[in-house]
Amino acid sequence: MKVAVLASGRGSNFQAIIEASENNELPNVSIELLIVNKKKAYAIERAKKHKIPFYLVESDNKERKLFESEMIEILEKNDVDFIVLAGFMRILSPLFVNKYNNKIINIHPSLLPLFPGSHAHKDAIEAGVNESGCTVHFVDEGVDTGPIILQESISIDKEDNEETLAEKILPLEHKLLPKALNLLSSKN
Ligand code: GAR
Repeated sequence: MKVAVLASGRGSNFQAIIEASENNELPNVSIELLIVNKKKAYAIERAKKHKIPFYLVESDNKERKLFESEMIEILEKNDVDFIVLAGFMRILSPLFVNKYNNKIINIHPSLLPLFPGSHAHKDAIEAGVNESGCTVHFVDEGVDTGPIILQESISIDKEDNEETLAEKILPLEHKLLPKALNLLSSKN
């Protein structure tokens, strides 16, 4: 499975995939390239370090159609057949999503369908729930709404805040995303 990772920032989930791959935990996956939409994304440094080709496709002040067509050109040129959103903070259009139907997965830091969107930890704390976690799901036309592949939960303590919750969930994400990728690549 020829995989592209899309990221917008820190890229720790990208790193988790790289490490799983280097440890032979993803025998059917080849990480072909990284696309970032922010030039300051630290994910770029990780790609450089591990000699993974990377592309900056800036999304700011650009029409979504153009942004996505630039990404599609890269994906097609490199024969990519699967896309992993790893902290990619842009919503993809129905056109893009349908082009890669069931070929795009996303990691999200909540137990979907609870707390979709970009403030999952804050929303979980404010809702006063006593557990949260992370979800890997297929990307469909909605925001964090596609079919769920895997989930992992943790309990929320009274003392937890947005930051401590994020710190608790992140290590689970780093396990869940490679696990889902391995599962899906083994089926192909
Ligand atoms: C992760 O916690 C990921 O689940 C979240 O952004 C973070 C990216 O961290 N994604 C979303 O909230 C998507 N709605 P990373 O850049 O270190 O992987």
